[in-house]
Amino acid sequence: MDQKNSVTKHRRIDYLIGTAALLLVGTFLYPPLQILWPRVHLPIESSLMVPVSDEAGLLPGSSLPFVYQGRRYLAINLNGRLYALSGVCSEGSGILHWDRSRRLLVCPSHGGTYDVHGNVVSGPSHNPLTVLNIRVAGGKIYAGR
Ligand code: FES
Repeated sequence: MDQKNSVTKHRRIDYLIGTAALLLVGTFLYPPLQILWPRVHLPIESSLMVPVSDEAGLLPGSSLPFVYQGRRYLAINLNGRLYALSGVCSEGSGILHWDRSRRLLVCPSHGGTYDVHGNVVSGPSHNPLTVLNIRVAGGKIYAGR
């Protein structure tokens, strides 16, 4: 009986020593690992944001399609300012494309056009486009609400 209690006691001590050793190793490894793999600090609302691209993937004047909550959107870089808007016409189901020279989103279905703020510029549409927030963090572009 005493021998069994002694074995159990030794196991508990071994467990405590092992746990303390792991905590000590983790304490020393955490700072260098943070330097090697820094965390990306996103804004508070970032939990509802999705990655769109690397920053270099959306050059001035260009656009990129992405999906947010199952819907098509476009990220646009206009003179270094980023915008994220619905990629589908508010009038129907036309898939919008970015006309770089006119600086407008254009619907191929009936010719509706929108500015980068989602406002209707011309055409049959009456409703603006859905606009998302867009942010750059850690060299990546994120969009969402
Ligand atoms: S569906 Fe876009 S203008 Fe008609």
